Amino acid sequence: MNQLPSIDCIVLAAGRGVRMKSSRPKVLHRVCGRSLLEYVLRAASSLRPKRIIVVVGFEAEMVKKELEILGKEDFLHGIEMLSVTQSEQKGTGHAAQIALGQVRAEAKSVLIFPGDVPFLSKSALSEMLNKQASGSEVVFLSSEPPLPYGYGRVCRDTKGQVTGIVEQRDLGPEEKSIPEVNVSVYAADRAFLARALSTLQPNNAQGEYYLTDIVSFGAQQGLSVQAVKLSDYREALGANSQGELAQLEALRRMELNEGFMNLGVRFEDPLRAYVDEGVQLAADTFIGSGTRLRGKTTLSRGVVVDGDSIIVDSSIGEDCRVKLGCFLDGAHLGQSCQVGPFAHLRPGTKLGDNVRIGNFVETKKVEMKDGVKANHLSYIGDAFVEEDVNIGAGTITCNYDGIEKHQTTIRRGAFIGSNTSLVAPVTIGEGAVIGAGSAITKDVPAQALGLERSDQLTIAGWSEKRRVRQNKASQVSKQQKKEK
Ligand code: UD1
Ligand code: CA
Repeated sequence: MNQLPSIDCIVLAAGRGVRMKSSRPKVLHRVCGRSLLEYVLRAASSLRPKRIIVVVGFEAEMVKKELEILGKEDFLHGIEMLSVTQSEQKGTGHAAQIALGQVRAEAKSVLIFPGDVPFLSKSALSEMLNKQASGSEVVFLSSEPPLPYGYGRVCRDTKGQVTGIVEQRDLGPEEKSIPEVNVSVYAADRAFLARALSTLQPNNAQGEYYLTDIVSFGAQQGLSVQAVKLSDYREALGANSQGELAQLEALRRMELNEGFMNLGVRFEDPLRAYVDEGVQLAADTFIGSGTRLRGKTTLSRGVVVDGDSIIVDSSIGEDCRVKLGCFLDGAHLGQSCQVGPFAHLRPGTKLGDNVRIGNFVETKKVEMKDGVKANHLSYIGDAFVEEDVNIGAGTITCNYDGIEKHQTTIRRGAFIGSNTSLVAPVTIGEGAVIGAGSAITKDVPAQALGLERSDQLTIAGWSEKRRVRQNKASQVSKQQKKEK
């Protein structure tokens, strides 16, 4: 049974993130394939709130689009998510004031998250919430990072009681050495929050309404104000600049790869394998350096990825090998297939078992059944290829007539000679053979030979005669030059 009180969450995501120097809103920057906003929403949803209110502002439409996509994910199932607009970014306190209007009257506690702190754990959030619910007006997370510069600092009195939070720019000389910083995550009693937010004033170095001031307000009122200090400061890291974002990425990437290694995945070099959140790797997979695994990608047991490949939204069956330098996007491979080096498998590629796709082969919207081979230099698109077909080097399915795409069908066991153009729509029958260099525009029946090229001309002694002719011509020309 859920022991937590009835809660609503607020996520502050209206800021531009000026220090990112980017036209993309900060909360949409990605770490291991996920937006900062998604991390925060996942953390917030782990407490199963009734409602999550996201404050948007800078590039609001872009942020709302991301919310729409995330709204379909399982982790938000059963949680009502809505956005409110803060048209002018007047500070974190101002953003919270705007969101408060959407908090349900029945909500006992309100949790507030910044949109740029991605690694918060459920355990720390629950501890904070439970502490608040059992008799505090406001509880917030604090931490002690190695470099506290830039963060708001937690001020305490001689008894250790929290008295307030002071931003970097407003710190007095003695406060600069305070190691404890504000993470910017709060659990507050709803009624207290409403009162505290109504008292905010922008009298600080940035001229903004600071959410942090609800803490000093509570302390001054003699109410219960507490901090929960994180044991691992990394949970509290935020991304304010590209440098910080890169640090978060490196940290999370190593964490993910360590998790995979514990499951029996072998990395050539775990610092040089870029595996996104949500990717699934089975035991005994080998991931070569420079590999990027993205989106909804799954690698089954025994898969070997040599390295420097990009694999997006693809599933790779047991014991497949993806050789050096391939790009797979939306491709689904059965077992024991071999792909590459340098192959390009585009969306809609579906391979059976034991299929071989060699170097410089491109596939798109194609189903290839077991045992098909296309080993060199081909484009196979909009096609259905049955078992054990052999596609020779340089075969092209001419699927596009300039207006529409057309389908090519190659039946079981057919042999397509090298440098063939299959002009779609066209069907090659079972066991048929296509002679090399043919441009096939008509269906070829089962077991037939399809050949489309002019007869070869062979002239005996032609080469020798040409040599004699050329030698004569060259002697004449030399003689003429001398006479001049
Ligand atoms: C904030 C805290 C600071 C804390 C730090 C930890 C304040 C005043 N300071 O500083 O004490 O140490 O987080 O990460 O709260 N936002 C809005 N509307 C605004 C301004 C900001 O929605 O008008 C959003 C931003 O999009 C961002 C979040 O609030 O997601 C935090 O804003 P940011 O500017 O990053 O605050 P910090 O300076 O990091
Ligand atoms: Ca921040």
